[in-house]
Amino acid sequence: MYPQYPPRHLLLILLIILPSFISCFSTYQEIPTANILDHTHSYSDSSRSYHPYFSTIDRKDNDFKHTFPSSINYESTVLTRLNGANAPASSAKVVNVDDFGAKADGTDDSQAFKKAWEEACSSKRSAVIVIPKNKIYYLKPVTFSGPCESDLVFMVFGTIKASATISDYEKDRMHWLVFQNVQNFRVKGGGTIDGSGKIWWEKSCKIDQSQPCQHAPTAVTFLECKSLIVANLRFKNAQQMHLTFQDCVNVRALNLMVIAPATSPNTDGIHVTGTQNIRIRKCVIRTGDDCISIVSGSKNIEASDITCGPGHGISIGSLGADNSGAEVSNVFVNRATISGTSNGVRIKTWQGGSGYARNIVFQNVVMRNVTNPIIIDQNYCDQDNPCKEQTSAVQISNVRYKNIKGTSASDVAVKFDCSKAVPCQGILLQDINISLQEKGKPEASCANVKLTRRDEVFPQCS
Ligand SMILES: *[C@@H]1O[C@H](CO)[C@@H](O)[C@H](O)[C@H]1NC(C)=O
Ligand SMILES: *[C@@H]1O[C@H](CO)[C@@H](O)[C@H](O)[C@H]1NC(C)=O
Repeated sequence: MYPQYPPRHLLLILLIILPSFISCFSTYQEIPTANILDHTHSYSDSSRSYHPYFSTIDRKDNDFKHTFPSSINYESTVLTRLNGANAPASSAKVVNVDDFGAKADGTDDSQAFKKAWEEACSSKRSAVIVIPKNKIYYLKPVTFSGPCESDLVFMVFGTIKASATISDYEKDRMHWLVFQNVQNFRVKGGGTIDGSGKIWWEKSCKIDQSQPCQHAPTAVTFLECKSLIVANLRFKNAQQMHLTFQDCVNVRALNLMVIAPATSPNTDGIHVTGTQNIRIRKCVIRTGDDCISIVSGSKNIEASDITCGPGHGISIGSLGADNSGAEVSNVFVNRATISGTSNGVRIKTWQGGSGYARNIVFQNVVMRNVTNPIIIDQNYCDQDNPCKEQTSAVQISNVRYKNIKGTSASDVAVKFDCSKAVPCQGILLQDINISLQEKGKPEASCANVKLTRRDEVFPQCS
């Protein structure tokens, strides 16, 4: 269908955008604004339910000036939501895994879950798969595939726990639960998804050097899903990453609690790869690796109201490994409390890559005893052999850090270690104050970076 002319919604969008565009432009003219503002049109076309947030940054900021608290604790909100999960709509077909032979007695319930999925997925009217409360269902690796005949809800009231027998994963060591090619799909219910990760952590080469370095499964992968909501759930003790969104479009991840020991290796909380239009909100993530990691092919990412730590912080990257190309753009991280992590807000790229990471905002972040609160590391090298110097790199540009306060665990509170070959462009620091957790004077270290400062910035590069 062709849009009618004049397209009224476009006029409306313009009316909304124009004032904030002007205010954006007047306060943000020292670094190129075109990129940040450009995409809002196409973004709102492809997914009207998503805010064109880059155009409203400054308007939102003004609200924050008055209301932004010195510390944020969403944990209680998340817990309240987790405990008060809604019942499914009554018109939907209810598919209870217990009716398909699930026993929740410690034996494997995979077949029952597969049958329940097939029943729900082939239903002509919308269906709700129910995983009952106060029970623990053990699953081997399972792929739940679409496309389905209608909208589905996967209601996890109880606990889904991973088989802890490594040989069960022989066919595919990368995945435990996969939801593939499902549209208009919701996963919620207040229950728990538990990766039984301990056995994998012990066998990780990062923990036991006598072991070969091998992948462990991602607990839950959403692959090629469209219009997806994952809300009100607990994820814990993943084998490796907890939750991956891969090649998905239009995703909301809300009120999630993701917990694993600080020492568990590579247990990223939420991993975003090849995914567009994703909004991650009100999540509490305490794991052994990145709270949120965003890698290549991802675009239009919002992460708001994030409580992070322990772990490795909120990361874009790593990008450009093995001379690969990477494209990440339009990342908006707003309102986060990051505590006791090795990094705060980080962009990391390997030498020798190509492509870009651009149009990135980190704002309203409280750091508590974070080792590298603000860091761009373009010489990232997570391997045994030293990485050799190379003449190409992923281009980092148009990154804005605003209202970032708190404490650093190391002397270097701000670190821009950009590529000599492809320096960082258009980096803006605004309203930054990071002191040391212990006594002393914090430092900023800046290499190969084009910086702009606004308002108070402390510490500054020497
Ligand atoms: C701050 O972090 C450092 C290094 O991670 C740790 O040794 C120290 O105990 C922490 N201090 C506080 C007050 O949490
Ligand atoms: C930075 O924060 C510290 C501690 O909160 C405060 O004493 C100091 O005045 C602040 N500095 C600036 C430049 O705002």
